[in-house]
Amino acid sequence: MSCTCVVGLQWGDEAKGKIVDLLGNDHDLVVRYNGGANAGHTIVWGDRTFKLSLLPTGILKPHLRSVIGNGLVVYPPRLLEEIKNLREAGITVGTNLAVSDHCHVIFPYHMEEERVIEQEGGGAIGTTGRGIGPCYQDKVGRTGGIRMGELLHPERLRERLRTIVPRKNRIIAALANGANNPKQFNPDELCDEYLKYAEALKPHVTDTAKLLHESIKAGKKIVFEAAQGSLLDIDHGTYPYVTSSNSLPGGIWNGSGVPTRNVTKIIGVVKAYTTRVGKGPFPTELDDGPTGIGERIRKIGREYGTVTGRPRRVGWFDAVAVRYTSALAGVDEVTVMLLDVLSGLKELKICTGYTMDGKPIDGFPSDAYLLERCTPVYETLPGWEMDLTKARKKSDLPKEAMRYVERISELIGLRVMLTSVGPDREQSIIL
Ligand code: GDP
Ligand code: IMO
Ligand code: MG
Repeated sequence: MSCTCVVGLQWGDEAKGKIVDLLGNDHDLVVRYNGGANAGHTIVWGDRTFKLSLLPTGILKPHLRSVIGNGLVVYPPRLLEEIKNLREAGITVGTNLAVSDHCHVIFPYHMEEERVIEQEGGGAIGTTGRGIGPCYQDKVGRTGGIRMGELLHPERLRERLRTIVPRKNRIIAALANGANNPKQFNPDELCDEYLKYAEALKPHVTDTAKLLHESIKAGKKIVFEAAQGSLLDIDHGTYPYVTSSNSLPGGIWNGSGVPTRNVTKIIGVVKAYTTRVGKGPFPTELDDGPTGIGERIRKIGREYGTVTGRPRRVGWFDAVAVRYTSALAGVDEVTVMLLDVLSGLKELKICTGYTMDGKPIDGFPSDAYLLERCTPVYETLPGWEMDLTKARKKSDLPKEAMRYVERISELIGLRVMLTSVGPDREQSIIL
């Protein structure tokens, strides 16, 4: 039994995709268990760059079985587009892809519902606009959720859409309240459109929980690839500025059907600094203008969202937040990514504690309204000049860079197994 989970310990985009890709050679299956096309995982092989949203990173290697677990919310045209793009790039997508018959399906009315609420202003989350929240709401609400398997039953699908869509139209119009030009939808047109997607996806749709149980029995090795970061987890993240699924490894059991006791290793992925896309508190944010360190890191680290192209907010490494998430995730080892981006800075700061309303506090208050009141306490470390992108082993790193990584390790109480100095898989240093 050997299952590994790769989980982000910040607000997403920690370079989980790169780590999953590195683990691919030693495993048999890669499984996504949460989220949807809000995720954007970038993998770089020499001069080739792949951007995956719904497909597990394993899809790039034909010897791996890639599984979209029941915990995902899938927008079929996006999935088909991703498959098409990969095929055009010469990547095999066939029986190596399995899609759960129990994952929930995103319809355009989910995106419209989200757009109307986000545009209203008050309480906007700054979502990716992919219909993630409304689709998960329908899943939990039961009466409006449609699962992938139902797309394979045309009569049932039509009947359900004829009940659901008029109700959705009323909800969307009421939410818009005369503003924002709310779109309205026709159930039969949607049904005809989705039946075409169903035809194309049919060969992949299956009982993936059963497939995973059989794979484990047969001694296959699995990587679970989390989407988003632990601080975006619906239960433990910085609520309400979170996503609508469990990105923490707790989501594996529900989101794939594999009992989490099968997971023998949990790898936590962090950036050497912190980023966040969308709204919500961010204590260590570097909001220091167009000539500041924040903008410098954004430029060098190419910190623009893979999914929406939005500039990512940038800040110092926050050891308080990562101590909190690594405990929740049950992390065994961490990888420190994008270390190269910090080259050339005279000094680096790490947040070691918080004060709230001027008084030191213990731990990480994950409620957004409390986190907003926190101010970071920093420790300053010397920076380094050297470009790290050509470093390949520990001894290639300047002592200040090594000290920086060691200090992160001390502050979060976990071993750093690898540091990354560039997007390519070669640009990785095992420690
Ligand atoms: P994910 O969502 O956690 O998989 O991360 P993303 O792919 O959204 O964002 C990570 C970005 O950093 C991608 O563009 C990667 O190609 C890039 N990247 C990964 N590791 C490194 C690194 O060590 N240095 C630099 N400069 N870029 C990296
Ligand atoms: P990966 O897997 C970074 C953020 C959005 C927004 C909040 C809610 O690439 O790390 P949603 O559309 O999920 O309802 O938006 O969550 N968010 C991400 N930020 N990386 C991601 O995924 C994200 N997925 C969602 O920006 O703040
Ligand atoms: Mg990403």
